[in-house]
Amino acid sequence: MKKAGRNTSKKLKNNEYFHYGDWGKTALNFLFTSDAWINIATGSVRSGKTVACNARWIEFLQNSKSDEFLISGKSSQSLRRNVIRPLIKMLNTEGIDYDYHKRDGELEIEDKLCYVMGFNDEKAVDVIAGMSVGGWYADEIARCPKSAVEMAISRCSDIGAKMFWNTNPDSPYHFIYENYINNKELLKAGTVKTWKFLIDDNPNLDPHYVTELKRVNQKSEVFYKRNILGEWVIAEGAIYDMFSPKKHVFNKIPFNIHEMNICCDYGVSTVTTFGVMGIHKDEELGNSYALLEETYYDKEVEGVAQSDSERVNDIVKLQDKYKLNENNTVYLPHDAASLKAECEKDSRLKMRVETYAPNTFEDITTIQNLFSTDKFFIHEDCTNSISQAQTYSWDKKAQQRGEDRPLKENDHCCDMWRGGILGPRNKRDPSLEIIEL
Ligand SMILES: Nc1ncnc2c1ncn2[C@@H]1O[C@H](COP(=O)(O)OP(=O)(O)OP(=O)(O)O)[C@@H](O)[C@H]1O
Ligand SMILES: [Mg+2]
Repeated sequence: MKKAGRNTSKKLKNNEYFHYGDWGKTALNFLFTSDAWINIATGSVRSGKTVACNARWIEFLQNSKSDEFLISGKSSQSLRRNVIRPLIKMLNTEGIDYDYHKRDGELEIEDKLCYVMGFNDEKAVDVIAGMSVGGWYADEIARCPKSAVEMAISRCSDIGAKMFWNTNPDSPYHFIYENYINNKELLKAGTVKTWKFLIDDNPNLDPHYVTELKRVNQKSEVFYKRNILGEWVIAEGAIYDMFSPKKHVFNKIPFNIHEMNICCDYGVSTVTTFGVMGIHKDEELGNSYALLEETYYDKEVEGVAQSDSERVNDIVKLQDKYKLNENNTVYLPHDAASLKAECEKDSRLKMRVETYAPNTFEDITTIQNLFSTDKFFIHEDCTNSISQAQTYSWDKKAQQRGEDRPLKENDHCCDMWRGGILGPRNKRDPSLEIIEL
């Protein structure tokens, strides 16, 4: 093991330390009284849940008689960013020995070994199945599959084992809320203890930032109740209730465009819609997006289904109109195999063709954030997009099952935007040249 402060972990620099500020009252209470079998920190965003769990976890490990432990998150990537990185900073500050083997997913803290694992991988259940651990720290527990959560609980079999979970609120029908947070029997028995963290209880945030965060979240009732008030409420009604035609519909493009792509939602027997997405890049403030044009072919209205070659004609028309070429991309849905094949054999199409695999919940959250922060705009001629932005709704039946899921109605344009916005996100293109339209 390396000595803290001189650790050679490649990703972290020697000088990364955690600078402790004041603890909020809920955090203090959590630190001193989280002695149940399952301890759950729930509540608003940025309220100090992770920092409190990190500090409690370090203390718990030092007093535990077990050797092996589990740390989990939604994905390995989010876990590293949200938990491992700040945890290691804390270990540096505290001068505690550790060694992080990122590749093996192992973090040794003094003589304790923590298995570090993203739970969105179905294989996680098999890996956990063979373990017996002295404790489990779970970040973003509500985003983990039920099977993995149940399996991991059953693995905490060592004497003195404890669990420390944190999560933002979700639907009140979510299994984490129903089976644990609001389970009267387990609460009464003291098996489960919960803490509700609030953003106003965290004294380490800039008051200006808190005001801004509240203002942005105010645009959606569900956002505000969950993210700011920390309440487990149903997401009902319009998904993009923060969309305002007055604000988000344009006649003249509200910014310079640095990049363009074509995006699509494809339905063999329903609707096929293409969009031209313009992207304004800003390293500091983040990208802004403008839907410049849409095409919309509805088989129900037209009476006959469109063929793939006719769909390629639509793409080529948009490509030529906006002078797009091999530096631009058409993002097709991941299941549009026949359309992709048709695109590839049509020599008129100069653009790159890629598929985009959606992540429904995360994509929606991203687009909600863009509307809330006034970073996604729609041209006034894109009438289907404007209408569907206002009617795209949560599925009430799925809510009863504890899932935030959109209704499969009025969703074609909303699905189409996703490729245009999220498709290029992972690519780094430094070009900031302005495109004249
Ligand atoms: N005791 C503390 N000392 C210094 N900074 C703190 C402390 N508690 C919280 N913070 C800071 O407050 C911010 C929010 O804390 P944290 O990430 O723990 O919140 P969270 O509730 O986990 O948020 P989210 O729900 O968004 O994951 C972070 O920048 C964190 O470093
Ligand atoms: Mg957190």
